[in-house]
Amino acid sequence: MRIGILTGGGDCPGLNAVIRAVVRKSVTQHGDEVVGFRDGWRGVLEADTVPMDLAAVRGILPRGGTVLGTSRTNPYALEGGADRVIANLERLGIDALIPIGGEDTLGVATKLAEAGLTVVGVPKTIDNDLDATDYTFGFDTALGVATEAIDRLHTTGDSHHRTLVVEVMGRHAGWIALHAGMAGGATVVLIPEQPFDVDAVVAHCQHRFDSGYSPIVVVSEGAVAKDGGMVLAAGEKDAFGHVRLGGIGTALASLIEQRTGREARAVVLGHIQRGGTPSPFDRVLATRFGLAAVDAVHDGESGVMVALRGTDIVRVPLTAATARLKLVPVERYAEVEVFFG
Ligand code: F6P
Repeated sequence: MRIGILTGGGDCPGLNAVIRAVVRKSVTQHGDEVVGFRDGWRGVLEADTVPMDLAAVRGILPRGGTVLGTSRTNPYALEGGADRVIANLERLGIDALIPIGGEDTLGVATKLAEAGLTVVGVPKTIDNDLDATDYTFGFDTALGVATEAIDRLHTTGDSHHRTLVVEVMGRHAGWIALHAGMAGGATVVLIPEQPFDVDAVVAHCQHRFDSGYSPIVVVSEGAVAKDGGMVLAAGEKDAFGHVRLGGIGTALASLIEQRTGREARAVVLGHIQRGGTPSPFDRVLATRFGLAAVDAVHDGESGVMVALRGTDIVRVPLTAATARLKLVPVERYAEVEVFFG
């Protein structure tokens, strides 16, 4: 078999572990040939390929990023793009395609499967907001980075008697903020799913100062005040229609400083959460996803995605992967609220 593989959307620790697992299993157990497409769907559109043999994946397991490169190219947003993708895959003799990505990349994969191509998706996002899988790899690594940052900020915040506002990733879903805030003992956690009341945030910070410690506020980049909108870093949209978020941390820090009368600083973790070596949990999950994707291809499946359910890797329809986002439920937010103030 000739299997195509690509990584699309924002990079994520663990992508290389998936690529390695796909190549190792398909080449050694099935005698397949694996063709890598560079930079996500751009590589398929432009037939920009790289042979992925055993040598190509040697040593990449602990490496962050993706050796294939990535992009947010959307073939369906380009005139004739989908036809070009289909024609190139046929011309290159690709029997099955394994796209690794989040809702956007898998949305394209779904349409291609509906058009008759053999496609098995692998879910990826540090935001952990894909509904059809319990966890995506990358999330655990991002969480480790954010938690370590909060631990460090506690000591410097307390020394200077100032509020530190930590802005973490999470466009629509606040999983990173929720888990890192709970793990790091934050004073307040603000997530996109729960518009926040500025007065309540200030009161929690004041209470923390009153008890002799300095507040740590963890805020998702997509969090909004009850009477406000999303804070944007840039106005332009990407090929999938997403605006660039960022700035809520700084806006909040200056509000808290005015209202508490004590210094406040913002720390934006940004892409630090996405870079670097994957955690052991993410390496294992990514590896199991890669192995399961090869199994699915050889079982003749298409239009499916591998997913984690409990401790099992299962197959779910690709349509389920992109049907809706997995948001933080109210009960989960209530758990962390116990520790506010
Ligand atoms: O992968 C999703 C994500 O991590 C979002 O939380 C964030 O808004 C986005 O990526 C930012 O990615 P980039 O800067 O690469 O556009």
